[in-house]
Parts: sequence; structure tokens; C-alpha cells
Amino acid sequence: MTAANPMMSTETPSLPVFVRTPSQAAEDIAAEILELVASRARAGRCAVLGLATGRTPLEIYAVLARRVREERLSLANVVTFNLDEFLGLAPAHPQSFRRYMCERVFGPLGIEGERGHLPASDVSDAHTEAHCRAYERAIAEAGGIDLQVLGIGSNGHIGFNEPGSARDSRTRVVELADSTRRDAAAAFGGLERVPRRAITMGVATILDARRIRVLAFGAHKRDIVRRTLESTPGSALPATFLHGHGDVRLYADLEALGTGFQGASSR
Ligand code: F6R
Repeated sequence: MTAANPMMSTETPSLPVFVRTPSQAAEDIAAEILELVASRARAGRCAVLGLATGRTPLEIYAVLARRVREERLSLANVVTFNLDEFLGLAPAHPQSFRRYMCERVFGPLGIEGERGHLPASDVSDAHTEAHCRAYERAIAEAGGIDLQVLGIGSNGHIGFNEPGSARDSRTRVVELADSTRRDAAAAFGGLERVPRRAITMGVATILDARRIRVLAFGAHKRDIVRRTLESTPGSALPATFLHGHGDVRLYADLEALGTGFQGASSR
């Protein structure tokens, strides 16, 4: 890392890094979520969670499921909104994010029916615009997202806000980047089976969340983590828009941070 690296500066960094193994991060974030849910329940209010799919948050969902089961916790006051969904898949398709959420989150955590929101995978072209507007409206009517769980794509996408996405973008239909489709090809059983389009919350939708917890683990995330930490905010790397959010934390392991990492901000 060079002297110009903001992580080496003594000034307050704009993307604080919490060095954690995936298991430690999952315990920390699950605990934070459960505290939020409990405090909202005591106030008679809902907790609104923004959730991601993919490999990275799986351990958080497993910890939540275990704690809900072992401690007999109720998440009856939880409302969730997912970041994104592939377009052109049946909702029950094995690779749809709805299926992932039902199996990993909604079922184990007892989040039923109308409380778990995802963009639709099977909305027709004539209705996508209204659907995206309704998604934004539903988030606003729920009171906004209290805590957003986020991963980072190998090309710097957050949600499916691919490189080129604007800071002020909102929920919309997007064309998936070639690299995103290639990353998904194995799961779909071939590149030609990966959808070309998706619906994603926009960058501005994500940044509206009151807290954002970003996770990145493993050596395969090292390059994108370094570039995210070192670059000034811009559309070329949408994850850089997280810099300067009022309550954002990056949880990353040393594999993702690189052995030379000595961030002044690491907790
Ligand atoms: C998933 C999502 C994506 C992923 C990102 C990282 O809902 O919005 O941005 O968070 O592609 O994926 P994994 O965690 O599989 O490395």
C-alpha cells in the first residue's frame, strides 16, 4: 500500500474497516440485528432490514437462524427488503433470489408473507417501471431501511448496481455486466442460462439506509476491496459511493485485506 492510501492516513477514514473472520463478522452483525429488532419491539415498532443474497451473508443468516431457534426469539416485527432479483426467472427457479430467501431466511427466521419483500423476477416489461416505483414506495412506507447488509461484487457492484451506475440511481431494471454473469455461470449450469437483466435497488436507495454493513471475505475479494478503499467515489466503482455514509462499516478478513493491511481505521 502506498503513502497515498487513505487507510494509512491519520484522518478519520470514510469507510471504517473491521477486521474479522467470516464467523466473527456473522456473530457481530447477527447480534447487531437482534439488538435492533429487540429495541424496536420494546418501542412497539418494526425493524426494517435490507438484505443481500450471494455467498457472503450466508453465515449471518445461519447465526440468526441458530439464535432464533435456541433463544426462542420472535422476529414478528421484522420487515425485509432485498437488494435485487434476476429478471426472467420463475420465482421458484433454484437460482432465484426469492428461492434463496425462502430457504435461508424467511423459513428459518419465521418471516412470513408480506413482510419479506423482493423485486419480482417475473414481471413483464410493460410493468417493470411501475413495479420499481412501487418497491421504492414500499421501502419509504415501511419507514426506510434501518440496517442494510451488503456484499461487493468482483467488479465493485453493490446490489446489481454495475459499474456506470449513478450515485442518484433508484430501483430499476439493469443489464448485468459480463463479469457478473460469468461469476453466476457455474450456479446456473452455463453462461447462456444466466439472465441478462435484473431489478436492483439503486445506489441512492442503498445509501438511504441508516446503517450499512458491508462484508468481503477471501483472497478473491482482495483486488476489489483494495480498489474500493483507495478510490475516490465514482460510478466506475459503485462500492466507492459507500465512502462518507454516516454509519457504514466494512467487515473484511485478512485474506480480503491483504497481508500488508495496516489500516488506521481497523477495529
Ligand atoms: C446479492 C447482491 C450482490 C452480491 C455480490 C457479492 O443480492 O446484490 O451484489 O452481494 O455479487 O456476491 P457474493 O457474496 O456471492 O460474493
